[in-house]
Amino acid sequence: MTFAPKPLFSPSDLQTWLEIGTEAALAAGAEIFSLWGKVQEVEEKGRAGDLVTEADRQAEAIILGIIKRHCPDHGILAEESGQWGSGDNPFCWAIDPLDGTTNFAHSYPVSCVSIGLLVQGIPTVGVIYNPFRQELFRAATGLGATLNRQSIQVSTTTSLAKSLLVSGFAYDRVKTLDNNYPEFCHLTHLTQGVRRSGSAAIDLTDVACGRLDGYWERGINPWDITAGIVIVQEAGGVISSYDGSPLDLKTGRILATNGRIHHELSQALADTPQWFQNYAISRVQKD
Ligand code: IPD
Ligand code: CA
Ligand code: CA
Repeated sequence: MTFAPKPLFSPSDLQTWLEIGTEAALAAGAEIFSLWGKVQEVEEKGRAGDLVTEADRQAEAIILGIIKRHCPDHGILAEESGQWGSGDNPFCWAIDPLDGTTNFAHSYPVSCVSIGLLVQGIPTVGVIYNPFRQELFRAATGLGATLNRQSIQVSTTTSLAKSLLVSGFAYDRVKTLDNNYPEFCHLTHLTQGVRRSGSAAIDLTDVACGRLDGYWERGINPWDITAGIVIVQEAGGVISSYDGSPLDLKTGRILATNGRIHHELSQALADTPQWFQNYAISRVQKD
């Protein structure tokens, strides 16, 4: 007789975790919204431009309280406080309490709360709440993706030439040659436009609900993208590394599309011409 390994979770666990993520995202979102325009202290976290405000810290404290109360055995990786519990825990919540901190600090209303659950390193549950638009995105593996409880789908755009994309620039951009400036210029030429929202989680939700056709970025962390990955995949989109191979969260590089333009965008990133690279080189600051 052979014994199949016991699955790590059941469909009802997924539903429970979705509700826990939702409770935390809505509570943190309400806190962020209440601090809108009132933030007194903005600090830099080491790298130029990498900011933290009291809203980031208070939102994170609210989320941690809710997750720890419901899931005391799970690990947590949170942007502001780091790793909680063993890094080997098969269940790990990846939390960005305020994605779009620079926008928030400047009173530019494009920010959200992003809460994802990794199961054995695989993004499995995602909840993203944008309190400025009152948009709640949710997804769990096999359960589909929703925006304010209505099912969502990626766009049907089939070519790069007809696409609208989004990307971003990590905080190390002034210190590295690999700063995404060349790719941004190249794709601006090849498409109907490339946007930069300042929130990776919002970028992913915009791909998931078909407002945008694709997103790529380097220098990104698990808390920025875990929730958004599940939402894009469950909305019918495709997630990979730049070259189309399976995503490795540790590389910090992600390509997310509606699937239809995935190969063409992957190819275009690889084909970014050297003359754009030269501009990037000219902008790197030397110590
Ligand atoms: C940042 C945003 C931004 C992306 C940066 C992230 P933060 O997160 O998601 O869009 O370009 O790489 O670090 O600092 O606002 O939480
Ligand atoms: Ca972030
Ligand atoms: Ca953040």
